Amino acid sequence: MKKIAAVILVLAMAASMVMVVSCKAGGGQMIGVAMPETHVQRWVKDGNSLVEEAKKLGYRAEAQFGDANQGTQNQQIQSFLTQGAKALIVGCINDGVAPVIAEAARDNVVVIAYDRIIPNSEDYDYYITFNNFKVGVLQAESIVAGLDLDAATSPKYITLFAGSPTDGNAFFFFDGAMSVLNPYIDSGKLVVVGPYPRTSSDTNNFQRIATENWQAPIAKTRMENLLSNDARNVTLDAILAPNDTLARAILEACKADAKYRGNLPIISGQDAEWDSAMSIKNGEQFSTVFKDTAKLAEAAIILADQVLKGQPVNIPGAVLATGDLAEIGNTGRKYVNAYLLDPILVTEDNLTVMLDAGFYDDRLDGGNPLRW
Ligand code: BGC
Repeated sequence: MKKIAAVILVLAMAASMVMVVSCKAGGGQMIGVAMPETHVQRWVKDGNSLVEEAKKLGYRAEAQFGDANQGTQNQQIQSFLTQGAKALIVGCINDGVAPVIAEAARDNVVVIAYDRIIPNSEDYDYYITFNNFKVGVLQAESIVAGLDLDAATSPKYITLFAGSPTDGNAFFFFDGAMSVLNPYIDSGKLVVVGPYPRTSSDTNNFQRIATENWQAPIAKTRMENLLSNDARNVTLDAILAPNDTLARAILEACKADAKYRGNLPIISGQDAEWDSAMSIKNGEQFSTVFKDTAKLAEAAIILADQVLKGQPVNIPGAVLATGDLAEIGNTGRKYVNAYLLDPILVTEDNLTVMLDAGFYDDRLDGGNPLRW
């Protein structure tokens, strides 16, 4: 009996210590999580992971999704401020977010730009993301390898797509990719079908290949138009696609064209979405770029926690962008501290990278077709 009482006492003490520790850590303060959209699968997972990580450190947290509408997201952020949030983690939609970020700064709320820069704002200091230039480099390297361009003896045909011109990342992805592709274009091994911005600074041509708000139907329609116009008299060997959602939409357009049935172009992607991993497994999409957003969420909350406590920033697995990469933290008004995680290229050969990271654990109840 005495033994049982002792055990209960020890358990009770342990439980109260856990409570003290968790209260001390976040002190029950609120972190507001504002994610841009749900039509790209990853953001739902990001929102959930951020709330989970915040709670682990003793914060209260709530996630809202902006439906690719900056007005909606601004209202969501304002509501976080009204509720007394001490920190905001924001994946914004466009620079229309700046006025509410200014409001947050006036209230001394810590703002962290999450995976997308908050453009045209000087009212925040921190940004956590991936090395977005490298994402583009990896996309293009997969195309070069997939086409075996170094050994090619006749020109290969490629068409170019970019992400949303309202999203700073789209420029880095594209410029990273073109840093790899331009030399092959210059040497004639690769021929661009349709508009060819050599870099994103060719604004006119970049706008022509960009995909407003990363909307899949826009990319699909643009691909259909290319197939019946610029690409009518050639067979495309490759397509630079900036993310998985758009890659699959572009592939749908190709699959509807008899010329490409059973002979799809090599196409890149990004985000390691489940549907794209399956598409790679089935030999359709060629590559994706895995960005472990569970790690990004964990890093973002560590960052928020350290800043809220006035501690020096030290985030395991992330490096402060310096040199050329510091440009990733350029809001157009100032340079914020940008902390970068590393992206990983994935093709059919290393699909298990995501499985090993536990990235799809919520998907695998019915077995694991990626391992079959
Ligand atoms: C993110 C990508 C995502 C895209 C569309 C970008 O800012 O970096 O991971 O695919 O937005 O949501």
